[in-house]
Amino acid sequence: MVPTTSLLLLLGLALLAPGLSAEKCVLTGLWINDLGSNMTIGAVNNNGEFTGTYHTAVTATTKEIKISPLRGNQHSSNQKSQPTFGFTVKWSFSDSTTVFTGQCFVDEHGKEILKTMWLLRSHVNSIDDDWKATRVGINTFTRLRKRWE
Ligand code: BTN
Repeated sequence: MVPTTSLLLLLGLALLAPGLSAEKCVLTGLWINDLGSNMTIGAVNNNGEFTGTYHTAVTATTKEIKISPLRGNQHSSNQKSQPTFGFTVKWSFSDSTTVFTGQCFVDEHGKEILKTMWLLRSHVNSIDDDWKATRVGINTFTRLRKRWE
């Protein structure tokens, strides 16, 4: 029979293993979402701040789509390997603003995936139109290229 201490040790290892093997999810790089939009996120600094660019595949306007700047923050990836984050896109071709919030996950194949929700605020000319000015949705991002490519 296996001694109780060995069983406890095995149980402890089984419980700890997923946490130990969790790979880090890194925001820096080139991403594509389920709509076909691309974004590039630059280096995340020591305060968790980052900047980047967003090339949306779709627009709620009739304007010509242009690459737009984004700014965001993530929680420290030292403490959490799958950090939460948020960023704002100030659209350069419209008067709208989008905020995204989400979490950077590593799936069972070691593939990074960003699960986000967004609010898109469109400009309206009158407070009477405020009720229809905000859209909400979700986007899932995957890496377009590996970090080292
Ligand atoms: C606008 O239409 O005024 C600006 C472009 C908005 C694009 C939205 S933001 C949320 C959703 N996710 C995308 O990748 N694009 C759309």
